Amino acid sequence: MEKVVPKLFFIALFTFIPLLGHCSSIEENREFDQWFQKLDNSKPKLTRFHFYFHDIVSGYGQTSFVVVPPPKIIRPSTTLFGQVNMFDNPQTKGPELTSGLVGRVQGLYSFASQEELCLLMAMTIVFTSGKHNGSSVTILGRNAVFQSRREFPIVGGTGDFRLARGFASVSSYFINATLGILEYNLMVIHY
Ligand SMILES: *[C@@H]1O[C@H](CO)[C@@H](O)[C@H](O)[C@H]1NC(C)=O
Ligand SMILES: *[C@@H]1O[C@H](CO)[C@@H](O)[C@H](O)[C@H]1NC(C)=O
Repeated sequence: MEKVVPKLFFIALFTFIPLLGHCSSIEENREFDQWFQKLDNSKPKLTRFHFYFHDIVSGYGQTSFVVVPPPKIIRPSTTLFGQVNMFDNPQTKGPELTSGLVGRVQGLYSFASQEELCLLMAMTIVFTSGKHNGSSVTILGRNAVFQSRREFPIVGGTGDFRLARGFASVSSYFINATLGILEYNLMVIHY
């Protein structure tokens, strides 16, 4: 089984790479060129977002999974150091899951500290509705989960958020053993 998966993966990779080449048409390249030409005269603007992120770690509708367990180290770790979770979490207008989906937050968090419960977050927020539908921003940063407010850097984006920078201010709205609802305030500077 272990041998079959990488083989299929590489077959898929090499089958699709040439197709991807064909998809990026001349028109698309022209659009990129025009975008860069306009950049000289574009002023950066600030867009703010407020939404909730649902991290469901077990049970029905689970969205976040342990993909790498913590390594067996000599000193027992209470901080889960080394564990990696992969997630595809819903992002909603209000704190209830039914309050309206505005996007998905996809990525991973890994337990990055041997001293405290602290995560490395690497994730993309892709908007699936509204005027930024299809555009995304990427976050990479440290998450000291017990601090009441955490700050993550926005390191880039796509679509409406090309060359974006900014930060996210994050606090826990609700946490129990199976569910985390996080409140996100995003300040995105883009063109
Ligand atoms: C967002 O964009 C996708 C892809 O273009 C489209 O299928 C979808 O209907 C759009 N969603 C909304 C809510 O406009
Ligand atoms: C956590 O809270 C959710 C929502 O209230 C609930 O459905 C779930 O059963 C709770 N989990 C635990 C372990 O208490």
